[in-house]
Amino acid sequence: ARRPRVLSGIQPTADSFHLGNYLGAVRNWVAMQDTHDAFYCVVDLHAITMGHDPKVLRNRSRISAAQLLAVGLDPERCTLFVQSHVPEHAQLGWVLSCITGFGEAGRMVQFKDKSAKAGQDSTTVGLFSYPILQAADILLYQADQVPVGEDQRQHLELTRDLAQRFNTRFGRTFNMPSPYIVKDTAKIFDLQDPTIKMSKSASSPNGIIELLEDPARSAKKIKSAVTDTGREILYDEENKPGVSNLLTIYAALTNRAIDELLEAYEGRGYGDLKKDLAEVLVEFVKPFQERTKLYLDDPAQLDKVLAVGAEKARAVSAVTLARAYQNVGF
Ligand code: ADP
Ligand code: NA
Repeated sequence: ARRPRVLSGIQPTADSFHLGNYLGAVRNWVAMQDTHDAFYCVVDLHAITMGHDPKVLRNRSRISAAQLLAVGLDPERCTLFVQSHVPEHAQLGWVLSCITGFGEAGRMVQFKDKSAKAGQDSTTVGLFSYPILQAADILLYQADQVPVGEDQRQHLELTRDLAQRFNTRFGRTFNMPSPYIVKDTAKIFDLQDPTIKMSKSASSPNGIIELLEDPARSAKKIKSAVTDTGREILYDEENKPGVSNLLTIYAALTNRAIDELLEAYEGRGYGDLKKDLAEVLVEFVKPFQERTKLYLDDPAQLDKVLAVGAEKARAVSAVTLARAYQNVGF
């Protein structure tokens, strides 16, 4: 049987992936290469909705792609590309924006949050249209599945509504994508405040592990992670969020079950756990950084990989766009 097609994207809005990005999202991209017909996209068009510096953006797009290759995305087994290399995204985005209600887009919670934070003068029309462009990203590839966290559910609902609406008005054009709930994605919390998500915007420097930072610095952050006044190593998200978070990270990085770790650390202290986890993390991060550097040190090769990816993406997206244009009356 044909493998389900999956589409997922990541914004090039940081100089490094953090541990949450990796364990919560990107690691699964690697796994899905073998179970899905996978399309992965560095969504640079999305990354200009909040204001940006051109040089920084270009650099971050490359760093993102290099890191994706370094974690194990294989251009032979998936389609990896940069969104702006594929003009169909913006083209379909426009058409979809013309069948989206102004009020409908205004109800997107992420837009309400981000625009409230930015203030009216810094809120762009692009930020408002963001979920419509995201719908275009998905529908262009006739994706069957889209991995979604809780925060992206509403956007996928909009995508489904737009697909249905377009198909009804203009004739069957788009496949209806379903949410893909990944079973073993870990949610990683801030090391200094384990009640909030590890995140580039909300975490303090010591609360976040950046995969491209000095591994010794990462090790230090693990060792000074906030735990609790107890002594016993237990998995208890409510009462021991810090320790539980360390266990989650440990289990994910070693592919061991939490229960197995609990058994191994029975009678031992938080210090032991942290010391071992710091080592595990450094062992993971070092080769990752070396591989990332190899890709960044050979810009011509990276360009080539991304050009091939864009070609593969366009082979699908151009067909969908042509059909959409035809059906809409162009
Ligand atoms: P951030 O929240 O740091 O701004 P992004 O929003 O760019 O990160 O997230 C990119 C991907 O990483 C998304 O799929 C998101 O769900 C995932 N992700 C981000 N932070 C975490 C986390 N702390 N735990 C698990 N997954 C995360
Ligand atoms: Na985010």
